[in-house]
Amino acid sequence: MLKLSKLATAVALVVAGSAAVAGEVEVLHYWTSGGEAKSVAELKKIMQAKGHVWKDFAVAGGAGDNAATVLKSRVVSGNPPAAAQIKGPAIQEWAAEGVLANLDATAKAEKWDELLPKVVADVMKYKGNYVAAPVNVHRVNWMWANSAVLKKAGVTSTPKTWDEFFAAAEKVKKAGLIPVAHGGQNWQDFTTFESVALGVGGTKFYNDALIKLDEKALTSATMTKVLETFRKIKGYTDAAAPGRDWNLATAMVIQEKAAFQFMGDWAKGEFSAAGKVPGKDYICAAAPGTSNAYTFNVDSFAMYKLKDAGAQKAQGDLAASIMGTEFQEVFNLNKGSIPVRLNMKMDKFDDCAKTSAKDFVDTAKSGGLVPSVAHGMAIKPAAEGAIKDAVSQFWNDDKISVADGVKNIAKAAATK
Ligand code: GAL
Repeated sequence: MLKLSKLATAVALVVAGSAAVAGEVEVLHYWTSGGEAKSVAELKKIMQAKGHVWKDFAVAGGAGDNAATVLKSRVVSGNPPAAAQIKGPAIQEWAAEGVLANLDATAKAEKWDELLPKVVADVMKYKGNYVAAPVNVHRVNWMWANSAVLKKAGVTSTPKTWDEFFAAAEKVKKAGLIPVAHGGQNWQDFTTFESVALGVGGTKFYNDALIKLDEKALTSATMTKVLETFRKIKGYTDAAAPGRDWNLATAMVIQEKAAFQFMGDWAKGEFSAAGKVPGKDYICAAAPGTSNAYTFNVDSFAMYKLKDAGAQKAQGDLAASIMGTEFQEVFNLNKGSIPVRLNMKMDKFDDCAKTSAKDFVDTAKSGGLVPSVAHGMAIKPAAEGAIKDAVSQFWNDDKISVADGVKNIAKAAATK
């Protein structure tokens, strides 16, 4: 194995035509769906063009739960990958372990402080030093809809409130189609749940209950309303949802089997990969009641401390490439997200991305910009895991009353 990788490095050196600059980068990620794989392939291409050897370390599983487990075991055994897709508070936790490489040299040379929104730069830094490179901004509070299915069901306008949504869902059901495409992992349940919390309770409630984990907000009448609404949505999903991957749920919308999906805009990567056009084949709209708010989810790569000089050089190049204009454009066109780098041209992007870019800036000013809990942007992994489990238990077991659901979630939020 070692011999092989040495040989590959040597070949890359010859190809690059320069000595001692190329290296191997092993990149741990979980981008394995159609749209995701197309996106990450662009990064591989850029790195290969710089003469580096890309060692793909893809661990399937939406939202990266499986990848996080594999990463832990690799780092603990003293054999970390060169780069891993991690984000939010998890970056800080890894940095505190002293295993992340300092990216300041690249960040300074490339002027990251000027090119990133401060809210993003802060997450990428540990004690003032850059330890991760951001890739994109995903918006999580989206609702996707198939235009033909809505037409068939006689739904003439996109629902903007939860009442309108349930009226539309009822029509779709009557037309013999599945109103809501849903999958079966706790992060998928929570993606829907946090959009409901935001839509029913508003930004202040979202912040108090899900970010500050304030007990009063968590046990309030608003929370009861949130769980009632959440449970009502479940009634419009199909019986085969448990265990289903998110991209297969998106495929149900693409293939006109289902009307709606609540999912972040990586779902748009699937629509794009299937050749579908927004505004024509499908609709992107903020989840009911959330058009003035924006749950953000920033993907990023942290680099792990490695001794090999070639690998270090490759890590620097990877970090610089990630923040470069070429990658920021082509990756995000495929991924469904928007560039995280400020002042990028948006002319090649579709209307959903343009709306997302505008709303990102507007909500940052209005206070409606909030981190996604479902996607690891807001709270420490231990509490996040516990709340997700409590929410999923409620979702999966109709025998748990709303009152008990509220109690269980509040209890889980106290996990340290
Ligand atoms: C999110 C991640 C996205 C997307 C999605 C499904 O957490 O930020 O990039 O890949 O999971 O895997």
